[in-house]
Amino acid sequence: MPKPVIIDTDPGIDDALALLLAFGSPELAPVCITSVSGNVDVDTATDNILRILAHIGPDPAPTVARGAETPLEKAPEHATFLHGIDGLGDAGGELPDPRGDDAPGLSEEHAVDSILRHIEQSPEPPVLVALGPMTNIALAAQKAPQTLRHLDRLIIMGGAVTVAGNITPAAEFNFYVDPLAAQIVLDSGLPITLTGLDVTRKARLELRDLDACPDTPRTRLVQRITSSLFTHSQETEGTESIPLHDPLAIALSFRPDLCSTRELPVQVETRGEICEGMSLADRRPVLPRLKDPPNAHVCLDLAADSFLTLFRERVLWEQSLSSEAQTRT
Ligand code: RIB
Ligand code: CA
Repeated sequence: MPKPVIIDTDPGIDDALALLLAFGSPELAPVCITSVSGNVDVDTATDNILRILAHIGPDPAPTVARGAETPLEKAPEHATFLHGIDGLGDAGGELPDPRGDDAPGLSEEHAVDSILRHIEQSPEPPVLVALGPMTNIALAAQKAPQTLRHLDRLIIMGGAVTVAGNITPAAEFNFYVDPLAAQIVLDSGLPITLTGLDVTRKARLELRDLDACPDTPRTRLVQRITSSLFTHSQETEGTESIPLHDPLAIALSFRPDLCSTRELPVQVETRGEICEGMSLADRRPVLPRLKDPPNAHVCLDLAADSFLTLFRERVLWEQSLSSEAQTRT
């Protein structure tokens, strides 16, 4: 039985790849996709969700709802330097029109209400995967904390516990954009899997992986929307590979075996100057009773080859299940 999944996202190139993985994985039933201000403004993020779904053509189509326009306290900050003005490597025009016949309709309800409604109505506890700043999740936790307790798990792409940040030396982008929201969610008591840069930096798509792909409309699309990211990686890190931050968070919703985790108490710096948005885990080697209780399962290592094989099969080769898995199911 496919697992119901709700995805909150700020597409965003890697968010787009994450949506392709989610809808290309029969283990999942994406029922609700919500937008949040992050990589791009919330309207661009919403349009990008609709464009990507028009390309995929899922049946049934999930609910799509527009979310928070700004972080809880800070002014909006975007990453158009990395994801392009349109959020899809400035290749979003290759995708169908977000208001065209192929695109699902946009719900009238706010993302927070849509998330809460789908949790309440789900026949089994859904998984909520957060791929952008935590603003919508924090608003949902404040509005209906008891409803969120029906979640099977909350998987967060965010934070950096044992490694440096990306948007600043201390902070990962999603936590940096809305640190207060991240702290509220970490304090919520929900069953959280924190998928931070500790593991997502190891989840790298190599340019040669794309060159080795069959020439299909899908692989041509992936090549075009990721081109700017590969260029950025080459210019800033000297590598011909890109981190698949958000696709890894999606993969963990049905392949938790891909990462080893440790339960840790994690706090977020909400007022710092040089460390704003930093996710600090208490890893001191002292007796547990001397520390705060853990609030997240923090991903610390990744079976990178297994994840990349899954990603290539499901997104690039569009094989929903490998032949081995087909015999298993
Ligand atoms: O730091 C990486 C995260 O920030 C990813 O989710 C990326 O899409 C951006 O939102
Ligand atoms: Ca994202």
